[in-house]
Amino acid sequence: MTDTGKSRFTRRQFCGNSAILGCLGALTGRLGAWAVDSPSAISTNGAGSLRAHAAARGLLYGTAVMPQLLDIDGFAAGKTADPYTQLIAKQANILVAETSMKWGPLRPTPDTFDFTQADRMMRFASLADQRVRGHNLCWHENVPGWLTATANKDNARQILTHHIEVVAAHFRGKLHSWDVVNEAIKPTDGLPDGLRKTIWFDLIGPDYLELAFRTAAAADPQAKLTYNDYGIELDTPAQSEKRAKVLVLLRRFKAKGVPIHAVGVQSHLDATGPQPGRGLREFIREAAKMDLEVYITEMDVNTHAVVGGPDAQDAAVAAVYLDYLRLVLAEPNVPIALTWGITSANSWLNKLHGSQSTRADGARERPLPFDDDLKPTSAFVALREAIDATHTVMTGVAKS
Ligand code: G3I
Repeated sequence: MTDTGKSRFTRRQFCGNSAILGCLGALTGRLGAWAVDSPSAISTNGAGSLRAHAAARGLLYGTAVMPQLLDIDGFAAGKTADPYTQLIAKQANILVAETSMKWGPLRPTPDTFDFTQADRMMRFASLADQRVRGHNLCWHENVPGWLTATANKDNARQILTHHIEVVAAHFRGKLHSWDVVNEAIKPTDGLPDGLRKTIWFDLIGPDYLELAFRTAAAADPQAKLTYNDYGIELDTPAQSEKRAKVLVLLRRFKAKGVPIHAVGVQSHLDATGPQPGRGLREFIREAAKMDLEVYITEMDVNTHAVVGGPDAQDAAVAAVYLDYLRLVLAEPNVPIALTWGITSANSWLNKLHGSQSTRADGARERPLPFDDDLKPTSAFVALREAIDATHTVMTGVAKS
C-alpha cells in the first residue's frame, strides 16, 4: 500500500507578495483585474513551462485531456506538428482523461470493456514522461444505458465490484491515483450523512462507497485512492455544509480503516462572487490531520458574469487563479493541481448549451491558461507565479 504517513508531507510556505509582484508585467489591482502585458509574447516552453516550474517546486501540474485529439504516432516519431499534442507534452507532468476512463466510454456492453482511448493516453503519457490520474471508478453520471436498464438490488454489488476489479487491474501499478468515488455528497438530497441519491446508493445502500474503495485497493495497491467532489471551495452556507459532510465521510472512512489516501477538490471556480478562503484552508488542514493529501483536480474559472471582452475576462480569471493557488498550495499536503483542460478551445464550459450555457453576450469562455488559438493568457502567468511563490520543497512525487 502506498505510504500516506506524515513524513510525506513536507512544509511549503509562500514567499511574500513582493516576490510575486516583482515578476509581473503589470498589476492593475487585486481580484477582478490582474493583467499581464502581452501574455501571448511570453515564453512558455522548456524552462518557462508550467511543468518545469511545478517540478522545480516538487509539485505536479497537469491537465485533463481528450486522447482522441492527440497525435500519438507523430509524437512517438518525434515529428508531430499538432499544436495541441505539443502543448500537452510541454506543459503537463500529470494527465487525467476528461472522459475516457469513465463507465460510459469504457463499457459499451455489460460484457465488454473498451480501453482503446484510455490506453492511447497511457501510451502518450509514457512517451511524454508524465504521470496519470484515473477518473473515475464510481459516479452517477456518464453511466451506460445498459446499466440503468439492467442493474437492480440483486446484481448491483456484483456489477460495481466487477467493473472496479477489471478496470483498476488493467491499469495496476501505472497510475498516480484513482478518483474512486466521484461526487457522492449532496446534502440537499436529504439522505443521512449528506449522501447523494444515486443509482449506487439506491441499489446498494450507503456501503457502496466503502465497497468501491476496498475493491480498488485490492485491484491496484499502488494508486493513491481519492474521494473527489465539487462545490466545497467557498465559504457560502451551502458549500460550507457540503464541505462538512465530506469531512464526516472522510473521518468515517479513517475510523473504519477504509483505504483512502487523498481528497480531490475539483475547483470549478467563478470569476465573480465569493471566493474560496478560510473554510477551504481549514478543510485541507483537517485532511492533513487524517494523513490525507489534497489534490486540486479539475480547476478552471468561468466568466459567466464578467462584463467586458476577452481582456476583462482574462484579467478576472487570472486574479482568481493567483489567489486560489496561493491559498491551497501554501498547505504542505497539496502536491498537485490540474486544470480541466488546458485551452479554452477544448473546455467543457464552451460546450454547454441551453439553460446551462454561459455568457449572456454569447462570447466564449476563457477559463484556462491557453486560449482558443493556444496562446498563453494572463492565467498562464498567474498559474506560473503562484507555483513559483511556493518555497522549494521536494516531496518525491514530481517528475520534470
Ligand atoms: O464523444 C461523444 C461523441 O462521440 C458524441 O458525438 C457527442 C454527442 O454529444 O458526445 C461525445 O461525448 C461527450 C463527451 O463529454 C466528450 O465530449 C458526452 O456526450 C458528454 O456527456 C461528455 O461530457 C463530459 C462530462 O463530464 C460527463 O462525462 C465533459 O466532457 C467533462 O468535462 C465532464 O467532466 C466532469 C468531471 O468528470 C466531474 N466533475 C465535473 C466535470 C464537468 O462537468
